[in-house]
Amino acid sequence: LFTAIEMAPRDPILGITEGFNADQNPNKTNLGVGVYYDDNGKLPLLECVRKAEAELMAKLSPRGYLPIDGLAAYDKAVQELVFGADSAVVKEKRAVTVQAIGGTGALKLGADFLKRFSNDNAQVWISDPSWENHRALFESAGFTVNNYPYYDAATRGVNFVGMMEALNNMASGSIVVLHACCHNPTGADLNHDQWTQVIEVVLKRGLIPFLDMAYQGFADGITEDGEVVRRFAQAGGPLFVSNSFSKSFSLYGERVGALSIVAASTEEASRVLSQLKRVVRTNYSNPPIHGGQVVATVLASPELRKLWEEELAGMRVRIREMRQLLVKKLKEQAPAQDFDFVTKQRGMFSYSGLTKPQVERLRDEFSIYAVDTGRICVAALNTKNIDAVVAAIAKVL
Ligand code: LMR
Repeated sequence: LFTAIEMAPRDPILGITEGFNADQNPNKTNLGVGVYYDDNGKLPLLECVRKAEAELMAKLSPRGYLPIDGLAAYDKAVQELVFGADSAVVKEKRAVTVQAIGGTGALKLGADFLKRFSNDNAQVWISDPSWENHRALFESAGFTVNNYPYYDAATRGVNFVGMMEALNNMASGSIVVLHACCHNPTGADLNHDQWTQVIEVVLKRGLIPFLDMAYQGFADGITEDGEVVRRFAQAGGPLFVSNSFSKSFSLYGERVGALSIVAASTEEASRVLSQLKRVVRTNYSNPPIHGGQVVATVLASPELRKLWEEELAGMRVRIREMRQLLVKKLKEQAPAQDFDFVTKQRGMFSYSGLTKPQVERLRDEFSIYAVDTGRICVAALNTKNIDAVVAAIAKVL
């Protein structure tokens, strides 16, 4: 059985962490994976999480199975966070939300559901470039995955003309994966007017939008970053939204995310939910309890929710400061190249423009790890490691 099995390539993102973990250099730096570290290079345990966990510990409960679609209080809180408690889709019970194993799990549920119910020949479109795992996830669900133009290396912004042309030529029923905010890996987001045009063409051509929102709160704020989702929901038509609390609650290892689907009526939504539960059941039966309970506890308590928003704002502000510091220091050490664009990029990442050979040199000569595409995680920079990172970048440029 196993003799003919070929070695699979390392994962383009998590494989970097494997290499980083094996590196013996005490001064190594991991700018690969999208994880927020504080200024001491430590993974934070948010105070709102600590308090919610203390509350949960005080009334320890037995661990029965959760319902297939997850903790009801969690699903409700997530739906209200994603669409707004006063939104028509929530009030009219047209949205269904199921707890998922992180944002990746939510995408997988959506992909499996779509494979079962979309047109036989429907294809998936992801941005060029996109999060490395998007293609793999949809391909493993059985889809053909295509790229629509997105990043323009010359302007370091979005090739909006190219993107619109692609959307205008997609077959009706095509599934379009869009990053709701903090585009991964480029940090280049659409502006309000561009989203208006995207929503229009998606509706006009009968495309199926799948919004991936893994970084809500890391660009401008929780409400601001979620606006695109609410605009799509208001515009009508079927809508898929995957969201994750890995980054925004620093709960990476708890795998807390959700998939929401918006249908045309309450009755349609209940049929959708019934089928979605079958997808969950045949993948992992039902989700784990703890992470969902923590998030539900924080979101339901006005005091903890306020604390969460403050802590998330703290992360957002620190990332912005690191962007500015990075640019300032690169100006000093590598004046020949303009890095001002780094302060305009949004979210955790900078699509730095570093080439694959430069990334390899950073790794081999300086134990600084980045994604081959040149994506670096700005959220892993701090006032202690930034000088070494800048010096190394200046050397490999
Ligand atoms: C990333 O892009 O680094 C994160 O979303 C982590 C992951 O699972 O790839």
